[in-house]
Amino acid sequence: MKGAVFTHFQEMIEDQFGMECWETLLEKCDLPSGGIYTSANNYDDQEILSLVVALSEYSSVPVPDLVEAFGRYLYKGLAHSLPPVMMNFPDLWSLLGAVDSVIHVEVHKLYPDALTPKILVTEKHENGVTLYYQSPRKMCLLAIGLVHQAAESFGTPVIIKHTCCMNEGADHCSLLVERI
Ligand code: HEM
Repeated sequence: MKGAVFTHFQEMIEDQFGMECWETLLEKCDLPSGGIYTSANNYDDQEILSLVVALSEYSSVPVPDLVEAFGRYLYKGLAHSLPPVMMNFPDLWSLLGAVDSVIHVEVHKLYPDALTPKILVTEKHENGVTLYYQSPRKMCLLAIGLVHQAAESFGTPVIIKHTCCMNEGADHCSLLVERI
């Protein structure tokens, strides 16, 4: 996983739990990288998982809630890292339709070795869309947090129903995203 994801994670922890929390997590996790991340480098996915589990133990917040909260935080950092012209969507629904074909394509130009998921709008409904998510990393909860924050940035709060999930054995996740 890209160092940018780790640097945003570190920033979220220091903002919300304090510097000593980050140091406690590093001591607990004994990471191969030593917890020193630079945005362009890649680090083992296992490191972010270990950090999230350690944060859950530290904060008593369940892991799924932390991953989703991190998705919301991460969106704000990532959205600012692309040129504004690439993020100039008229509404949430057009942004969601462009994650795979525009946004992550730009990410690959910046970082040719980036590992992004397949994330497609497969159905349009009166009140929203169905998103198809597929990735060997199975980080659908991160996707849910990212979508919630994208929705908030358009002033279009949504509910998301996770109608099938890779973490329960399916070959992809279906996320029904509907305006509230
Ligand atoms: C609602 C919008 C978005 C969704 C749902 C989404 C979804 C995701 C997910 C779930 C991942 C984790 C990797 C995986 O699951 O395989 C990811 C990775 C990533 N995304 Fe997005 N994303 C969104 C917007 C953006 C934006 C605006 C950027 C802008 C730069 C971005 C850049 C990245 C980067 C750099 C990674 C890490 C790739 C790596 O570790 O190699 N994403 N995205």
